[in-house]
This record gives sequence, C-alpha cells and structure tokens, in this order.
Amino acid sequence: MTPTAMPSPALQPATQVALIEALVEQGWYVGRDVIDLGLCDVLNHELLKRAAYNGLDEAGIGRGQQHLLRKDIRGDAIHWLDRESAAQRQYLEAMGELQQALNQALFLGLFEYEAHFAHYPPGAFYQRHLDSFRGRANRVISTVGYLTPDWPSDGGGEMVIYHPNDPSQEVARVVPEAGTFACFLSDTIPHEVLPTRYPRTSIAGWFRRNASLGGVLDPAH
Ligand code: OGA
Ligand code: MN
Repeated sequence: MTPTAMPSPALQPATQVALIEALVEQGWYVGRDVIDLGLCDVLNHELLKRAAYNGLDEAGIGRGQQHLLRKDIRGDAIHWLDRESAAQRQYLEAMGELQQALNQALFLGLFEYEAHFAHYPPGAFYQRHLDSFRGRANRVISTVGYLTPDWPSDGGGEMVIYHPNDPSQEVARVVPEAGTFACFLSDTIPHEVLPTRYPRTSIAGWFRRNASLGGVLDPAH
C-alpha cells in the first residue's frame, strides 16, 4: 500500500451525464465535490509551492505573437500542466476521459486538452471575457477545477457566469472551493473572476479542435 493511495481518475459517470445535459441545455455546468479532494490537495500544494518560489509566469491575454500582459484585465500567475507529477497526470487522465465522453455524446471532434494552474494573489481578478471567438474558435469547451480547501465565506474570488444572450444578466456565481468543477462553451459563455481577498488556486483548461487555417500554425497556448 502506498501512503496516499490515488483514487480512480475518472469523474463519476453520473457527473458526466449531468455535465453533458447541462452543457446542451444551458451552455455551462457547475458541480461541487466533483474532483477528488485528495487529488485537489496534492495539486494545491504543488501550485502553492511554485507560487512561493516564484515558479509561476504572469498570465497575459491573447495567444502566440499577440500575447500581452494586462494586469488591469487579469492578475493571475500560471504554470502550464506538463505531466511532471502523478497528480497532474491523474487530473489530465480524468479530462481525457471527459473528452471521450463529450465526443461520443456531442460529436464535438475535440482532439486536445491544454490546462494551466492559476494562482490569484489577494486583490487579483479577471475581467469579464469569452475564452475564444467564433470563427477562430479552437477552444471549444472551457473547464475550471478549483483547489483551495475551506474557502472563506468572505473570500471573494467567485467566478460569475453571464447569460450568453444577455451579458448583463448573471446566471451563476461559483465559489472557488476545492472539489468544485465548472465547464462551459468557450465561445458563448461570458464569465469573470471577482477580486479575491484570499490566495485563490485553480486549474483552467480547454478542450480544443484543430483550427489551423491556410497552413498557419495555431499556437497551443
Ligand atoms: C480563465 C478563467 C476562471 C476561474 O482562466 O480563462 O476564466 O474561475 N478562469 O478561474
Ligand atoms: Mn476564462
């Protein structure tokens, strides 16, 4: 027996069904206690350790050559998952299974998943945005897995989801508590991260379709 026996990587089948139904009906899904808390804890420590020794990169907006640092738009620091730990591999494996389930149910042709750790220090936020733009939508479905246990009730840092046809209408407020998992259509669902008052840790990820056009390589990040 290993001291920290790794739980089964897959999301519960019932969760996958509820998630797919919610995506079809409203374009977004939020569930609590979806990601195993032991796994969240290991991932959270991995991220906090990196944050403590400056092992994170300031997050920007835009991709490839259009990448810009804009602290007035987003204030998190990130590290792309690189499979370097068993916990990362386990999280990515669960997402791989979700990708298969999504492709089987919705014929989305998702072929890849990319994800980064995100650390929002106190005061950081991410203004309302879409994760991809129609026509150039190689990010199809966004995921966020939250990692901070015992999120304080006055901690702020909620993710606000807005109505796709009326971006002034708030439809959900997601408390960034360990175990909670959100996913939504990347080119349809406006969302933002409210200013946090507490160090906020998560993994943001995207299921992608290949959108290379005219031989121009689409950068992975
Ligand atoms: C993002 C994002 C939401 C969150 O990284 O694009 O919107 O709750 N993250 O961390
Ligand atoms: Mn986003």
